[in-house]
Amino acid sequence: MATAAAGTLFIEQAYDRYTPADHEAWRRLYKRMQPRWERYANPKFQEGLATLRLDPEQVPRLSDVNRFLSPRTGFCARAVAGYVPAYVFFDSLRRREFPTTITVRPMDKLDYLPEPDIFHDVAGHVPMHTDPAFAEALVQFGRCAQTAAGVADADKLSSIIRALARFFWFTVEFGLMRCGGELKAYGSGLLSSYGELEHALESAEVQRSEISLEWVIHQSFAIDHYQPLLFIVEDFDHLYSLVRQLEQWMKDGRLDHVAPGEPAISTEDLHSFLLAGAGQRG
Ligand SMILES: [Fe+2]
Repeated sequence: MATAAAGTLFIEQAYDRYTPADHEAWRRLYKRMQPRWERYANPKFQEGLATLRLDPEQVPRLSDVNRFLSPRTGFCARAVAGYVPAYVFFDSLRRREFPTTITVRPMDKLDYLPEPDIFHDVAGHVPMHTDPAFAEALVQFGRCAQTAAGVADADKLSSIIRALARFFWFTVEFGLMRCGGELKAYGSGLLSSYGELEHALESAEVQRSEISLEWVIHQSFAIDHYQPLLFIVEDFDHLYSLVRQLEQWMKDGRLDHVAPGEPAISTEDLHSFLLAGAGQRG
């Protein structure tokens, strides 16, 4: 996918190819999540689920999802074949297109899969895209990636991409928010994980801190176990203001030397930014 330009990135969702086992996996994933969503998901996610009218019994068709999603925020879920280089992924958000994995995890891996599948992407991410304030924060994040592509120095750019990846991880994927006197999840990595959603909000082993941009951009994470540290935003206007701050810090050079560590930036991801930058510079 390294050469995927926006025009060739997206594929058709060949819906007839889903097997009875795929639908059964979706059904099981959805059914057991429902009570946990009711308990732990933020209200905007719950409203989003209702808006999208996802079928608990069947793998969703993206065309059906988009009929209810696009009129709300202009976002649409678009099928991709697999890994999307970081710049291409972030820039799609700027265009309100969400690169969406369409494969279903195998039945023997319902609990955990390191890579996204359609349950993570459509049941975990897409309901959040129905909320206008959250959608604006995502679009603004996509603009940050565009600004980052203007940095030609590969070492600085690697640091900036690491900062962007950490920010995305600790907000869009694993973020918590305050709702009245309670904490709720809005991060899609949490909202698509039966075990981790409860763990994130109940376990005494998890440190839950008010979000600090300074902390997040320097904070490593590992993807192969439950997150021991999570960050809390007040609401999605707060999230939006953090994305603006992130971009300003980038412009000020404050992301040029973030702490080393995870995530490692792949050559493919780095090149996706360099290529976009070369395109910007003409
Ligand atoms: Fe995700």
